[in-house]
Amino acid sequence: MKNVIKRSWAEPYKMKMVELLKMTTPSQRKKALLEAGYNTFLLKSQDVYIDLLTDSGTAAMSDRQWAGMMMGDEAYAGSRNFYHLEEVVKNIYGYKYLIPTHQGRGAENILSKILIKKGDIIPGNMYFTTTRLHQELAGGKFEDIIIDEAHDPENEFLFKGNVDLNKLERLVKKYGAKKIPYVSIATSVNMAGGQPISMKNLKELRAFTKKMGIRIIHDMTRVAENAYFIQQREKGFANKPVKEIVKEICSYTDGATMSAKKDALVNIGGFLAINDWDVFEEARNMVVVYEGLHTYGGLAGRDMEAMAIGIGESVCDDHIRARVGQVIYLGEKMRGYEIPIVKPIGGHGIFVDAKKFLPHIPQNQFPAQTLAAEIYLDSGVRTMERGVVSAGRKANGENYYPKLELVRFTIPRRVYTQAHMDVIAESAASVYERRNKINGMKMVYEPKYLRFFQAKFERV
Ligand code: F0G
Repeated sequence: MKNVIKRSWAEPYKMKMVELLKMTTPSQRKKALLEAGYNTFLLKSQDVYIDLLTDSGTAAMSDRQWAGMMMGDEAYAGSRNFYHLEEVVKNIYGYKYLIPTHQGRGAENILSKILIKKGDIIPGNMYFTTTRLHQELAGGKFEDIIIDEAHDPENEFLFKGNVDLNKLERLVKKYGAKKIPYVSIATSVNMAGGQPISMKNLKELRAFTKKMGIRIIHDMTRVAENAYFIQQREKGFANKPVKEIVKEICSYTDGATMSAKKDALVNIGGFLAINDWDVFEEARNMVVVYEGLHTYGGLAGRDMEAMAIGIGESVCDDHIRARVGQVIYLGEKMRGYEIPIVKPIGGHGIFVDAKKFLPHIPQNQFPAQTLAAEIYLDSGVRTMERGVVSAGRKANGENYYPKLELVRFTIPRRVYTQAHMDVIAESAASVYERRNKINGMKMVYEPKYLRFFQAKFERV
């Protein structure tokens, strides 16, 4: 019998420089975690071995991006790097007008202030923390119109980022289209576990909103990862380059906010892009108040150059296959240990189901927060809570109790190796083995906004 040789793939890059990490002992980690009030956001990064807190601003830039940094034109106005970025955004994403911002939430702030009036409703495919807060601060109310499957970590539907058009139709009937300034659509829905929206669903949404005269604003933070899933999973896209799919996605929307710290492979930066001249004009004026002049928006010229180059790299098939491939490798490994994770595996990280992992801990004792703390204690791997702490409180002061109580193992782009992925999976597995001995926590300090960043906890 002939042996079938398995053909592995590997990363389409090699290392030119390395960053040394500190290894810690269990007693050092215990001390560090206690000082951080059991909140992984409050750990010092020097006490962390493998940092999976976020994929935001944590990418390794390429040699080309670093070379671009040296070409920064640090003029106050009209930097050549701005024009390069503007051209790239137009060519790759297809949006007409560009306003750079220091990061995604800078764009969310400006856009929400311009488009939302008091009492408006903003439907969206699941909330994101900063996005919803800016919508609320502008006087709007977010309404979740994602399909029900997205709230079920066990459901293996391939496009859990899809919109339920019936939910949207009901909102339009109830409030009237005039009360809905736009539908807020994220590609690769973060809080659902990095789940994609299908092109078919997006097209249907476009047709409906066009009829109603409602805009679609695209949170395109992880658009390339979404496009990769469309290429892999949706009929008719298998032979299309990710770059083309990205452009098609954007073509069904009217504008976008972007945190370039994710997909676009930079450590800082973002933008607002819009096709509507009137909105652009207002945004161009407002950015001066909150970020900086409209040709730098809080960024240095070199940051805009790195972003322009990073956007180009982010839509290359080889890059995105390796990026998502690494996430899938980690997810499969965890599934091998029977660790309950959100399925299907998403684009930017593995989301562990803390309710299933620690079923004896009630949600008001923060199972996901507890699990993130335990993983750190075990191995120095830093993860993040995405559950009741992240969800925050409603306007009336009650806690939101989201169905999803997750710990996010977020994978930075181009930073860690397959061996790191093995260490991470093994650490999660050994915490899983002793799960019955783990107790929940109580919150002893709670800030007013986005509490997950700074809240402190004690064990019960
Ligand atoms: N939209 C999405 C979908 C995001 O994931 C983020 C940030 C933002 C907007 C805000 O962008 O941080 O540049 O201001 N997500 C990070 C994360 C913080 O860890 O998921 P920002």
